[in-house]
Amino acid sequence: MKVGYFQSHPEFGNIQGNRERFASKLESVECELLVLPELAFSGYQFVNQEEVVALSEPIPDGPTTQACMALAQRHHLHLVVGLPERDGNRCYNSAIVVGPSGFLGSYRKTHLFFEETLFFSPGNSGLHVWDIGPARIGVMICFDWYYPEVARTLTLRGAEIVCHPANLVLPHCPDAMVTRALENRIFSVTADRIGKEARGGKPPLTYIGRSEVVSPKGQVLSRASQDQEELTVVEIDLNEARNKSITPYNDVLKDRRPEYYSS
Ligand code: ACM
Repeated sequence: MKVGYFQSHPEFGNIQGNRERFASKLESVECELLVLPELAFSGYQFVNQEEVVALSEPIPDGPTTQACMALAQRHHLHLVVGLPERDGNRCYNSAIVVGPSGFLGSYRKTHLFFEETLFFSPGNSGLHVWDIGPARIGVMICFDWYYPEVARTLTLRGAEIVCHPANLVLPHCPDAMVTRALENRIFSVTADRIGKEARGGKPPLTYIGRSEVVSPKGQVLSRASQDQEELTVVEIDLNEARNKSITPYNDVLKDRRPEYYSS
């Protein structure tokens, strides 16, 4: 199966322009699953709630979900895309899953980071796994990586690939995702952004890039640069994620001892 990430450099607030630039990059791509960053087309550093409301969209009826559905159909692939979601008077930091057959579902970020806590409601969608045909995929968003329970829960629910839209500002995630992939024997696809935002006199946020695909054996199959836009596709063998055996005597899921894990 061919999976990839689009490591992007969005212009804040230019949702349509950022989306159109992505659409033109897709023309030359052959893959079955492509992951885009968190808040992929809106930008990340909001200055106030009005901006969040203005840039957020209903899912699935909003323009970004509809445009991504059309792209997924045209290019015969599945897309996981982060966007600000509006639902009534609440906004969520969300990601959609769309494919050639249309809208499959969405996820609302469970663990909000830093000033996201001022602007977004904590996600209430729960953690989901979608069967997209060649693979079962789970979705978590950026800072969710800090909570190993998220990738573990997705794995226990059958995810073979964890799709991970991100806007990383701390340096640790690319290496930490090697552990998330290894301890669950899953593939992970982290799609990060690059560039800097310093809006409204706020301290600058520098995004670290280094998007990556990691294998169930903890191999970094591809890691992007810190400062270039990149659309990268790698071939993976899903059997690696289906085989949970570490040695003939150790199975990463069957050997769990949950009776000892509660606090
Ligand atoms: C993050 O959750 N955007 C760091």
